[in-house]
Amino acid sequence: MKQTGAKFASQPPFLFDPLMFGEHRERLVSLLPSRSLAVVNNNDLLPTNADASMPLVVQSDLFYLTGIEQEQTILLLHPHAKDEASRAILFIRAASPEKELWEGRKLTFEMARSISGIQQVHYLEEFPRIFHRLMCATDHVFLNSNEHSRADNEVETRDERFIAWTRKRYPLHDYRRLAPLLHGLRAVKSQGEVLAITKACAVTRDGFLRVARHVKPGVTEYELEAEYAHEFIRHQCRFAYPPIIASGSNACCLHYQSNSAVCQPGDLLLLDVAARCRNYNADLTRTIPVNGRFTPRQKQIYKSVLRVLRQSIRNLKPGKTPKTWQREAESLMEKELVDLGLLSMSEIKRPKDGYAPVKKYFMHGIGHSLGLDVHDVAPVDEPMRAGWVMTVEPGIYIPEEGFGIRLENDVLITSKGTRDLMDDVPIEPDAIEDLMSLR
Ligand code: GLY
Ligand code: MN
Ligand code: MN
Repeated sequence: MKQTGAKFASQPPFLFDPLMFGEHRERLVSLLPSRSLAVVNNNDLLPTNADASMPLVVQSDLFYLTGIEQEQTILLLHPHAKDEASRAILFIRAASPEKELWEGRKLTFEMARSISGIQQVHYLEEFPRIFHRLMCATDHVFLNSNEHSRADNEVETRDERFIAWTRKRYPLHDYRRLAPLLHGLRAVKSQGEVLAITKACAVTRDGFLRVARHVKPGVTEYELEAEYAHEFIRHQCRFAYPPIIASGSNACCLHYQSNSAVCQPGDLLLLDVAARCRNYNADLTRTIPVNGRFTPRQKQIYKSVLRVLRQSIRNLKPGKTPKTWQREAESLMEKELVDLGLLSMSEIKRPKDGYAPVKKYFMHGIGHSLGLDVHDVAPVDEPMRAGWVMTVEPGIYIPEEGFGIRLENDVLITSKGTRDLMDDVPIEPDAIEDLMSLR
């Protein structure tokens, strides 16, 4: 973890051990009753306005269980089958010379086996026949749906189409939800997943260090975005989410994305930008002064946000629910806002319309689970456990004063405490000013 950015980020491309995906499947299978079957579909390739497709967003559960990215792939688990080879089956799209001419190489059976560790691989055309045979020996059917608590499910997914098709053909089976099982499993990261997130964090750190050298009055937010893009892509990474490069009061828009303004002297610049590496994400925010030095007022607010970040990292503990952790962060923030003179004790005691006054300046969550999705799945009402990776991201936003400050690190919860995966990214105000003085 203490390796320098240049050393770690420039290692050869990171590859997963297929045993990791096998372990993930075993963890899922151990939760399934006998005479059950589970199916996970990849996402659709979504069309653009014309004759092209958008880049595929791999279905995270499919990747978690197989390491396969190719469009239309289906995983079928039938864990209690007498025939051992039928316990995990992968269905992939058949290659054709025409498809390969336009789209490049498709998976062969051998490639699919070596990535996933699944020995039984078929083309998709075989799916209905094999599925029918296994359904005849199955009582409980576990199907997948997007049950992220904040998901906006307007577009029907392949999994949802598959649910409709299956229920129509086999109306008398007992249908169950796969999502709660997968949320519980995916929240606890395995060693290989932590390594992938660590790699994404290292590339993210290098991106930040590079961009900090380019920040000065007159530079545009999009020029800084271009520096990040170059740094990420040269390490075979992509943006984990649309980058937020927000100078001055733009930082008060929480998911600002136009990145179109010119950075002004005296302003702060909020950089919420991170890399995704082999489908695993980092999530980093730093707020830095455009001209290299914080004003006394900016530094005062910055230090409040930093204290809440540090204490909220200490507050992450196995056995505590995310809700309790959020409440703790809000009371830490209340104290800071009172000390800063932004709220009074009497205001804090009088929530208006059930709305906590602290939300006027700190209106988002203190953090979220991080992994294959940036806002990763995790059981929201259950206690956190060793192996969860959480972002910790307090902020204070003051549009009247023309700035917002957010700081965000990614933290692994262990049975012995926490490991801050971003602890080598400068964060103390003096360290930020020292970094900026190198420009
Ligand atoms: N970058 C999005 C977030 O911090 O949640
Ligand atoms: Mn975040
Ligand atoms: Mn973020």
